[in-house]
Amino acid sequence: MMIDITEDKPHFPYFFFFLLQDDSWEIWNSFRLLCEHHSQLSVALDVLNSLPSANSLGRWFGESVRAAIISTDCFLTNARGYPCLSKRHQKLVSGFFNHSIQIVLSGEPVHSLPRINSDLAANNNDNNVDGVQKHPLRPYLDYVGYLYQRMDPLPEQERFELGYRDFLQSPLQPLMDNLEAQTYETFEKDTMKYIQYQRAICKALQDRVPDDKASSVTTVLMVVGAGRGPLVRASLQAAEETGRKLKVYAVEKNPNAVVTLHSLVKLEGWENIVSIISSDMRYWDAPEKADILVSELLGSFGDNELSPECLDGAQRLLKDDGISIPSSYTSFIQPVTASKLYNDVKSHKDVAHFETAYVVKLHNIARLAPPQPVFTFIHPNRSTDKSNNRYTKLQFGVSSDTGSAMIHGFAGYFDAVLYKEVHLGIEPSTSTPNMFSWFPIFFPLRTPISLHPGSSLEVHFWRCCRPSKVWYEWSVTSPSSSPIHNTNGRSYWVGL
Ligand SMILES: C[S@@+](CC[C@H](N)C(=O)[O-])C[C@H]1O[C@@H](n2cnc3c(N)ncnc32)[C@H](O)[C@@H]1O
Repeated sequence: MMIDITEDKPHFPYFFFFLLQDDSWEIWNSFRLLCEHHSQLSVALDVLNSLPSANSLGRWFGESVRAAIISTDCFLTNARGYPCLSKRHQKLVSGFFNHSIQIVLSGEPVHSLPRINSDLAANNNDNNVDGVQKHPLRPYLDYVGYLYQRMDPLPEQERFELGYRDFLQSPLQPLMDNLEAQTYETFEKDTMKYIQYQRAICKALQDRVPDDKASSVTTVLMVVGAGRGPLVRASLQAAEETGRKLKVYAVEKNPNAVVTLHSLVKLEGWENIVSIISSDMRYWDAPEKADILVSELLGSFGDNELSPECLDGAQRLLKDDGISIPSSYTSFIQPVTASKLYNDVKSHKDVAHFETAYVVKLHNIARLAPPQPVFTFIHPNRSTDKSNNRYTKLQFGVSSDTGSAMIHGFAGYFDAVLYKEVHLGIEPSTSTPNMFSWFPIFFPLRTPISLHPGSSLEVHFWRCCRPSKVWYEWSVTSPSSSPIHNTNGRSYWVGL
């Protein structure tokens, strides 16, 4: 069959059928490369009774798979004569459900239908007590339905975030722009974030002031970038919890947030403890120095909302032996197959969108290797080298049982050490549970890179600073070379 997919007008998706075995992904990959990653190409997978490795299967979750055809040959028979699937097939089917992949049952019924049907009818309290079912594949359908019903329901937050899945968003610029009330409101619902901050502040207060001096020594704490006050509240609760005396300065440069902050302080009766400073932390002349400097200026990639530059400017507010919360943060990247995101970026038909980082609730992706650290910032910065420029070269190996893989870009995360062992972050292996303030970041590649088994991926990331802006550049040099993305911050930058 010849299909013209070169026309530039909307079509129904074109489905291509692939047997779910090791080399079928390669056939699909060659085919979509011939079609230049055409956005209307979709896959229907033919599931066989033996499955490739989990890593090999995992690649399909980064592709546009619309349907999975499960033949009756795949089904086993349980002790009561019902059709069932192996544990690995069950896990795969759950993955299909989780990715809204339609399941199609095919083949001849291979189970003893009369017995199954009458059992099922009795089980289901069905009217078909004589064992006559509408369709001979009904028992298989019932089993697949049972697998669906057995899945854990999505937690409320996940349900709320369904609409954000694989949706490209521009990262916030809280320094250059003033955040809206609604954005603060969303932050403030994330109780886990503030619990972690409160834990860190408690420990810092206890380290700063021994128990026997708790009633005589007052700790000066500055919340820099206070927003509408949740970290002020967390600080006061930490003081109460530890029995320490506190004096708080809340510094915020967004005049709208400062209005709300004033109302909060009045409402809570904190006037004698909390002073509100409407200023950029980098330029405020404080009447005294702080023992503890608390901030949350972190983006999905840690330093991408310019926490390093803001805290460098605020460091002169901190005593020489003072504590910064967070004390450090590290960004991470990992290579991903993400055909939907790639096509969404490509649909803009320009280079600039391929040289931009996006905040995305990643879902339809395959993570091809464990994340690796990219850049770390430590506060207070006592080193002689004050530059926030960074460069890192990383090598990623894809596990040999994955087979070949296609890299459409990099998922980015962060992990922050708030104080000692109290941390906060979204790097998948250590992510803070039930925290929803940050989705990952995505750095696309202009041309996806094919990686063959045994070869490694060499990636370069730069963080570049000028007086008015900060930006990232990135490139791949092995197994093949990409252009350097975002040279001189020509497409994407963060304003200082
Ligand atoms: C990510 S929000 C966090 C707000 C609040 N701490 C919270 O947890 O809800 C960062 C806040 O820092 C403020 N901010 C950013 N850069 C600043 C600067 N240089 N000086 C003062 N405030 C700043 C922003 O306006 C914003 O309110």
